[in-house]
Amino acid sequence: MSHRLAVLVSGTGRHLENLASLAADPAADFDAEVGVVISNRPGVGALHHAARFDLRAEVLEGAEGETDEEYGRRVFDVIRDAGADTVVLAGFLKKLWIPDDFAGRVINIHPSLLPAFGGKGCYGMRVHRAVLERGCQVSGCTVHLVDEVYDNGPILLQRWCPVEATDSASDLAARVFDEELIALPEALRRFWSR
Ligand code: GAR
Repeated sequence: MSHRLAVLVSGTGRHLENLASLAADPAADFDAEVGVVISNRPGVGALHHAARFDLRAEVLEGAEGETDEEYGRRVFDVIRDAGADTVVLAGFLKKLWIPDDFAGRVINIHPSLLPAFGGKGCYGMRVHRAVLERGCQVSGCTVHLVDEVYDNGPILLQRWCPVEATDSASDLAARVFDEELIALPEALRRFWSR
């Protein structure tokens, strides 16, 4: 059965680009299409990728005084309208409330080996700086189901890589990201075949 993704983004959108490329490639063994892209920020790189692939894209910024649930209801109205069955948080950096009908169908990728270096405020380059400061010798990425606690839900797939003594945070980020590009589509394939 072909799947329909909602991809939620806040930044550069390299994962969105990768997922949209795989979805457009019949040889990629990736039986999905991107039904909608939702960004909580206007003007981000991910929206340019969405336009390049001719994907439906919506910008839904949080409103002053709005609760997580109120924001989440707006987001999932769009997701349902797009007919998506699976939601991917691909660098989406806002807390997402999840309605009952999507429980267990929202997937996040995080650039560390959870449960290490996760939680509120721990995202992007901050993760890699913290890994280096701690002296870790391995790092990696985690794809997991999202529940109501940051970076907490059941793990679907992890991939690891070494941390080199000479690494800067951006060196490490690039090495981890190479693993992320493999991990996210592979986790989705496994998730859909469960
Ligand atoms: C990725 O490295 C992803 O793991 C990270 O944001 C980046 C998004 O890159 N996510 C988090 O830190 C979530 N806590 P992209 O916008 O280029 O796809």
